Parts: sequence; C-alpha cells; structure tokens
Amino acid sequence: MGLPEPPPLGTTPLAAGTFDGSVVIVTGGGTGLGKAIATEFSRLGAAIGILSRDTAHLDAGLHAVRAEGAAAHAVACDIRKPEQIAAAVDEVETVLGPVDILVNNAAGNFPVPAEDMSPNAWRAVTDIVLNGTFYCSREVARRAIERGTPASIINIGASYAWTGGPGHAHSAAAKAGVKNLTESLAVEWGPYGIRVNGLVPGLFPHVDEVAAIRAVPGRGDNEDRRSPAHRVGQPRELGWAAVFLASPFARYVTGHTMVVDGANWQRRAMLQPEFVPIREQLGRLPFTRNGEAIAGTEATRS
Ligand code: HXC
Ligand code: NAP
Repeated sequence: MGLPEPPPLGTTPLAAGTFDGSVVIVTGGGTGLGKAIATEFSRLGAAIGILSRDTAHLDAGLHAVRAEGAAAHAVACDIRKPEQIAAAVDEVETVLGPVDILVNNAAGNFPVPAEDMSPNAWRAVTDIVLNGTFYCSREVARRAIERGTPASIINIGASYAWTGGPGHAHSAAAKAGVKNLTESLAVEWGPYGIRVNGLVPGLFPHVDEVAAIRAVPGRGDNEDRRSPAHRVGQPRELGWAAVFLASPFARYVTGHTMVVDGANWQRRAMLQPEFVPIREQLGRLPFTRNGEAIAGTEATRS
C-alpha cells in the first residue's frame, strides 16, 4: 500500500495570506524543487526573489510564481560570488522590500568516483553548496540584524550528510557542512530573532533534473518501489514543509533539520544486498591516473 498520496497541487497547508507582506528569496528558484518551494510561498501571499545564473531558469521561476499572483523579481547571480549576492539582494530589496525569508536551495552535483574527481570538480560543488549557502545566509542575516527584524533561513540539504554519499563525495561533504552550519548559525543568530533550519528532500524526481543526475544508473526505474513509502516525493510536499518551517507556527523551531523522504534514509536490510563498488555502479573502467582509454574500450573521465 505505502504512504498515502498528498492533497492535490494548489492545496495550501497554511491560512491564506500567511506570508502577505513577506519577501522570500529562493536561490535556484527557477527549476525543480526550488521552483516548487517558491510557488508554495507565492500561493500564501509572499513576494518572491529568485537568484540563479541562467536567464531561462529565472524566467521560468518568475512565470511560475506570477501565475499565483505574486510580486516577483529575479536576478542573475552566481552564489559562489559574495559581491554578486550582495548586489542581487540589493536589487530584490529595492524592488520588493526587505528580505524576511531565505531558502538556500541552489546546488551543483554530479556522480563521480572520488579517485576520478578533479580538484576543480570538488571546488565547483563545495563552493556552490557550502560556501554559497554561507555567503547568502550572511548577506541576508546582516541586513536583518541591522534592521532589528526577525528572519528565517531554510537550508536545503541531503540525507547523505549523515551517512556519507559514495559516488557524490563532494556534494555529501558539502551537505554535511550545511547541516552543521545550520546548527551553528541557529545559536549565533537566535538572539536576533533569526531562525535557521534545514530541510532534506528524499527522492523527488522532477522534469528539470540535469543530465548528470538523470544518468545515475537506475534513476527513473521503478522508483516507487525503492522506498518504504512505496512512492517518490511530490515537489509540493517539500514546499509545504518549507512554508511551515518559515511560518509563525514554527517560531520555536530552529537549528533543526527536517527530513521529508518517507523514512527512506533510515532503511536497513537484515542482510545488506551484495556490495557493488561505485566504479562498477557507474559503469566505469578500472582507474588510471590520466583517465586514458584502455585499448578497445571507452575512456573514463579524469
Ligand atoms: C566529472 C565533472 C562533471 C561530471 C563537471 N565536472 N561535470 N567531473 N563528472 N559529470 C567538472 C569539470 O570537468 C570541471 O573540472 C569542474 O567540474 C567544474 O565544471 P564546470 O562545468 O566548469 O563548472 P560550472 O560551469 O561552474 O558548473 C557547475 C557544475 C554544473 C556543478 C559542474 O553541473 C552545474 O552548474 N550544476 C547545477 C545544477 C545541478 O548540478 N543540479 C543538481 C542538484 S541535484 P576541470 O578539472 O575539468 O576543470 C542534487 C540531488 C542530490 O543535489 C541527490 C542525488 C542522488
Ligand atoms: P536542480 O533543478 O538542478 O536545481 C539546482 C538549482 O541551483 C538550479 O536552479 C540552478 O540554477 C541553481 N544553481 C546551481 N549553481 C548555482 C550557482 N552557482 N549560483 C546560483 N544558482 C545556482 O535541482 P533540484 O533537484 O531542484 O535540487 C534542489 C535542492 O534539493 C538542492 O539543494 C539539492 O541538493 C536538493 N536535493 C534534491 C533531491 C532530488 O531528488 N531532486 C534530493 C536530495 C537533495 P542556474 O542553473 O540557473 O544557476
């Protein structure tokens, strides 16, 4: 049977107008789960700022939240660049007003065996996921502290922050850093009325998934049967959790990381299935330092 399906898209879990007058920034809010989260905030009255790099993504995010009647503004910004973040938040605040809520959702990720990962590949992912989350949080928090207004920050994580993430060592390490940062910042900024929480999606397939994630062997196959819930998550379910965490009903909740994954990450078999090394799971040839082709076979990536 599995866990019941959620109420239909468009249902709101909080009272209409809960976020009237609030300004929410969602990084990476033009695709996938960020867009779903931004949409749920817009249904409840928030004005939405969207920050990411690609103008087509920004346009898609604006289209989605404006369809719900939200005031919205999008700014092209690479969250690895603190000066671009400061300029983008300036622009959002000029157009929409002071930022009350920040959702650190933007991420970069691709599967790669650790021994094949270049230093730049490691840097690209950890810079986006961990450093970008800190830079955006710092920018929004400093403004709230100066104004003396409360704020809420939600950091989107991943459950391999607790378990390790073979095949995603860069992203898993960065998400572990994000979870830990959530806990430090919640304590440091609690006295200013700034709450900092984490929100972890489980398996939430969506149409915007990048090719590298789609290419994870098995992704998309029989996904409902891969979880104790017997189904995948619906993006709106993550949006509902986000609006709760940012809402007045969660004013005493801070430093917490909520997992929305149908208990998939806690599962253990009584006997684990036969172990398959990551190279084999990803269909890689044996490691060579320069990734050169082995005669008659396809080259691996260095
Ligand atoms: C190995 C790779 C690679 C791949 C890039 N690199 N893709 N290495 N396998 N598939 C290496 C490059 O060769 C380069 O190293 C370095 O990474 C930086 O690559 P660039 O393309 O120059 O970086 P940039 O343009 O900044 O793009 C960042 C990116 C890209 C992270 C590489 O994928 C991106 O923009 N992603 C955003 C969207 C995204 O990833 N979404 C997924 C979130 S989903 P060298 O040494 O060659 O210079 C998610 C789900 C979690 O997190 C759960 C999953 C199971
Ligand atoms: P996605 O659609 O690929 O979204 C990633 C977003 O991040 C994109 O909108 C991208 O926009 C933005 N981004 C990437 N690098 C950026 C940068 N340097 N500066 C600014 N923006 C940047 O992925 P998703 O599945 O919705 O993931 C959303 C969040 O959920 C991520 O934190 C991810 O780790 C987490 N998550 C997802 C799943 C899942 O099953 N989908 C599971 C676990 C965790 P631009 O390209 O326009 O910059």
